[in-house]
Amino acid sequence: MLTEQEHEVLAQELERYPDRRAASIDCLVRLQESRGGWLSDETLADLAPVLDMSVHELDALATFYNRLNRRPVGRHLIRVCDSVSCWIMGSDAVCAVLRERLGIDLGCTTPDGRFTLLPTQCLGACERAPVLSIDDKQYTDLRADDLDAILADHD
Ligand code: FES
Repeated sequence: MLTEQEHEVLAQELERYPDRRAASIDCLVRLQESRGGWLSDETLADLAPVLDMSVHELDALATFYNRLNRRPVGRHLIRVCDSVSCWIMGSDAVCAVLRERLGIDLGCTTPDGRFTLLPTQCLGACERAPVLSIDDKQYTDLRADDLDAILADHD
């Protein structure tokens, strides 16, 4: 069930669009923010009648857009670019160090819930490859030696 505050937030998003479906991504993002960083089946069911959409349609959106998470994630979301420019510039090595330091594989969350490690498509900074993002911050021109300090900045 949507809270009163969630209803208000969704109403603000709906005002910005000519029809309800057009607001679907932004509404999903806002609910994800208010519900611990991921979208459960219950959350999709709560939102569907607000947008006049089916849960299946919302699930299709939520599994397509990489800003949306359909499973619980850690406090910090690390996205390592694995597109071609980053791959050429050594993203595999960066990813290998991250996996070793965190003790997890891609797609997993550390046992303490601190980090989730995910691959991602181009982050739009190819000229400064390799690139990763942690939450909303981007790190470019990465070297394996940089990673310990970057991780230490995120409790
Ligand atoms: S290929 Fe990695 S940022 Fe574009």
